[in-house]
Amino acid sequence: MKKITINDLMKWKKEGRKFATSTAYDASFSSLFESQSMPLLLVGDSLGMVLQGKNDTLAVTVDEIAYHTRCVRAGSPNCLLMADMPFMSYSTPEQACMNAATLMQAGANMVKLEGSDWLVDTVRMLTERAVPVCAHLGLTPQSVNIFGGYKVQGRDQKNADKMVRDALALQDAGAQIILLECVPAELAQRITEALDVPVIGIGAGNVTDGQILVMHDMFGISANYMPKFSKNFLEETGDMRKAVAKYIADVESGAFPDDAHTIA
Ligand code: KIV
Repeated sequence: MKKITINDLMKWKKEGRKFATSTAYDASFSSLFESQSMPLLLVGDSLGMVLQGKNDTLAVTVDEIAYHTRCVRAGSPNCLLMADMPFMSYSTPEQACMNAATLMQAGANMVKLEGSDWLVDTVRMLTERAVPVCAHLGLTPQSVNIFGGYKVQGRDQKNADKMVRDALALQDAGAQIILLECVPAELAQRITEALDVPVIGIGAGNVTDGQILVMHDMFGISANYMPKFSKNFLEETGDMRKAVAKYIADVESGAFPDDAHTIA
């Protein structure tokens, strides 16, 4: 696989070419993903749930994300690699800069932050200092205690309109990718069409430019819970490489997510 940059994703968005993404946490799987030409990987703080067996992501630390970022980079030298900024590691712009530097030095090409318009100053400060940013909107799992559970976001008009405004404000501040989690497909489509930067969805229908899955869900091996919008690609292929290839092909053709894996 050739080295992937944000310019490739921008070009694919303009061409209407969809792309697949996965979380990854170690060198063996990131190498497997690269062998199937997965262009973009995320070291997600979901590792608190799928690797550490916790019920949420809140206990994950910057050092843990940095460790897994080094592992993933070792297995996939060419992917565009995003690293999640954990809970309370970006509560001020200055704190975000220090912690983002640790993740970039571990091998990330971009950091991902969860939030809304309150992140505008942080995104501006990071991008002005050469740290590319993906902004995660919708169901932001670090806010599980504010939301009172893992609930679909943006169902009512007021919140949907605010999410569109937030996405535009974050793009204007310099965010180069917007990630939408668990929002109605109609809202995901509005945001994808309104933005110039690529939009990646999970539980947001097949209307976004890219899709992401937690890798354990893609293989049907998550310890506790399989979200409705995820799909076990290993079940129908019986082989990990084929499962990844099928996921990528189904995203690129628009076959995944289908109606059964979409939030109305
Ligand atoms: O941490 C993570 O794995 C994520 C994905 C669910 C997008 O943020």
